[in-house]
Amino acid sequence: MENEVWLNRQARRTLDRLKPRLETHFKDFSKKESGAWQGYLDRLELYFPHLFQLLFRLYGTQYDFFFHLENLLQSVTQSWIDRPADLKTLDASRLQKPHWFQSNAMLGGVCYVDLFAGDLEGVRQKIPYFQELGLTYLHLMPLFKAPERENDGGYAVSSYREVNPVLGSIAQLSDLAAELRAAGISLVLDLVFNHTSDEHQWAQHARLGDLEYQEYYRIFPDRQIPDAYEANLREIFPDEHPGAFIFHPDLDQWVWTTFHRYQWDLNYANPAVFNRMAEEMLFLANLGVEVLRLDAVAFIWKELGTNCENLPQAHLLIQAFNAVARIAAPALLFKSEAIVHPDEVARYISAGECQLSYNPLLMALLWNSLATREVRLLRQALQNRCQLPPGCAWVNYVRCHDDIGWTFSDEDAQELQIDGYSHRKFLNSFYTGRFKGSFARGLPFQENQKTGDSRISGTCASLVGLEKALREETVLEIDLAVSRILLIHGILMTLGGIPLIYLGDEIGTLNDYRYRLDPAKASDSRWVHRPFTDWGRYEKRRDVNSIEGRIFSGLHRLIELRKQHEIFGEGLFEIIRVENDHVLAYIRSLSSQRVLVFANFSEDEQIIPANILRLYGVGYRFIDLSSQEHIPFADLILGPYALICLGDA
Ligand code: GLC
Ligand code: GLC
Repeated sequence: MENEVWLNRQARRTLDRLKPRLETHFKDFSKKESGAWQGYLDRLELYFPHLFQLLFRLYGTQYDFFFHLENLLQSVTQSWIDRPADLKTLDASRLQKPHWFQSNAMLGGVCYVDLFAGDLEGVRQKIPYFQELGLTYLHLMPLFKAPERENDGGYAVSSYREVNPVLGSIAQLSDLAAELRAAGISLVLDLVFNHTSDEHQWAQHARLGDLEYQEYYRIFPDRQIPDAYEANLREIFPDEHPGAFIFHPDLDQWVWTTFHRYQWDLNYANPAVFNRMAEEMLFLANLGVEVLRLDAVAFIWKELGTNCENLPQAHLLIQAFNAVARIAAPALLFKSEAIVHPDEVARYISAGECQLSYNPLLMALLWNSLATREVRLLRQALQNRCQLPPGCAWVNYVRCHDDIGWTFSDEDAQELQIDGYSHRKFLNSFYTGRFKGSFARGLPFQENQKTGDSRISGTCASLVGLEKALREETVLEIDLAVSRILLIHGILMTLGGIPLIYLGDEIGTLNDYRYRLDPAKASDSRWVHRPFTDWGRYEKRRDVNSIEGRIFSGLHRLIELRKQHEIFGEGLFEIIRVENDHVLAYIRSLSSQRVLVFANFSEDEQIIPANILRLYGVGYRFIDLSSQEHIPFADLILGPYALICLGDA
């Protein structure tokens, strides 16, 4: 506490000292636009003390702390001055309505620019389609300059200020952001800030022997320190390289590369790296990006003797980036990508850190429920692990461009007498189709012989059984697969948070095995679920007799359902006990309104006793919100994989 008081006093003193220097440095602007300048200074007063404290905790013992701090403040101020007027207007409107993203109107989509539409111009032309679907949030996968051959689907960034020339230009990107915004769609991009590609200018300088830039990365002369670190590290992509370091022949040294050998981890122990990345971040914000997906947050700080994941300093860093955003680009939000233990996922989520987060636990447990036909783990997680602090929201998804990892907690599983290790083995066997009777057609990803660990690749449709059913031409199985898709998406639409659809899933896109023919992709099975979009198949979405049309129209009804009822956005959530492990049941409530949701995770009919409806409903009369039909007060029959939302009649 005393420390806090002292830090606060230091922060105030520092600001008092730096403010006049800022005024001098930016005197033209501050004179010309004195009103706006004052507004900026007010935000600085509000957020600088916190920023100071965070940076002091990270870098306070370094002799050049104040030098870096002043540099940061100058570049942050410059970025704010450069921020286009329309985005400053957006800042003001978001500050007025800070919880806008919790609305039931929100619907997210994600795609690769090239795979979905060729290039940025192609994406622009798809705006009418995004509107047809109802999107209000569009995550475009990494589209910046990257090495030509392997680049981890763009997650090896060579410049944060240049669009990959094959996709378009920066001018096109900012125009696209504005056009999307005009269409009611917020642009989401990644901030890949744990690493850069080995072709980034910083890495190039480092390779040529520039010591200043070598300090931007984690580079070691021999194996001594890498060995010491590796004693505690998890291997992320063991197929690509074991451990976390590679030997670089130009440097004749070892470089920290958590992911691929061409993705060099940045050294955030160096305050210059924080400053430079803050500049890149604000550059993206000023293009009109409204949400930054913070890539691989768990890995950004390293400390000898730990597993170098989810360290306290990682949180301080993200909070510091967030404070910078509050000062210079207040509309900007962060979404955390932490695919780790649920306790750790939760730690990234707060108004002062990441306001949004992927919900990998929900994702994994939806798949678990489909495989086991029971909802115990899912129910337990929703009850105990999914409440968020105010001003924050989950981004709920059934799959993304990455693999599915079984990140539930072993302790939670234990409570239900489930052994985590063997259950994961079962899930991997089920989703690779090796388990007898499995409907799924997924591929293993990063099967690790040493640890027995493995993850799963596959599109939603292939994992729910559509691929197998179509191949075997079994009508009943096709129906069940379609119902499974609608069931899990139905949960996303009614649970709260922002539902996120991997574009292509809404028409039942299957695995595409052709990635195996491309040497730059063949060793990474995640490419099986990142196919080129077949626009011919999209055309069929209007034919309700086609598979595409059945899935699209079913999903569209669910989206409409969400958009018509405010309760599916900001309403409260509570699990209902139904004494039936095949059925997930919950209540959404908003002031005096209630909606009861029942989801059957099995292919057999399930019956919910009328008594349960009486217990949890407001009255005795219900209406099925999808069909608008009145439901008599009686036992409720749930068909195979049915999802029913009951409102008060
Ligand atoms: C993130 C991305 C993943 C990528 C990794 C390295 O986890 O989602 O696709 O391989 O970061 O950037
Ligand atoms: C690991 C990482 C996650 C990344 C994924 C890529 O699970 O924790 O950040 O997305 O690997 O496969």
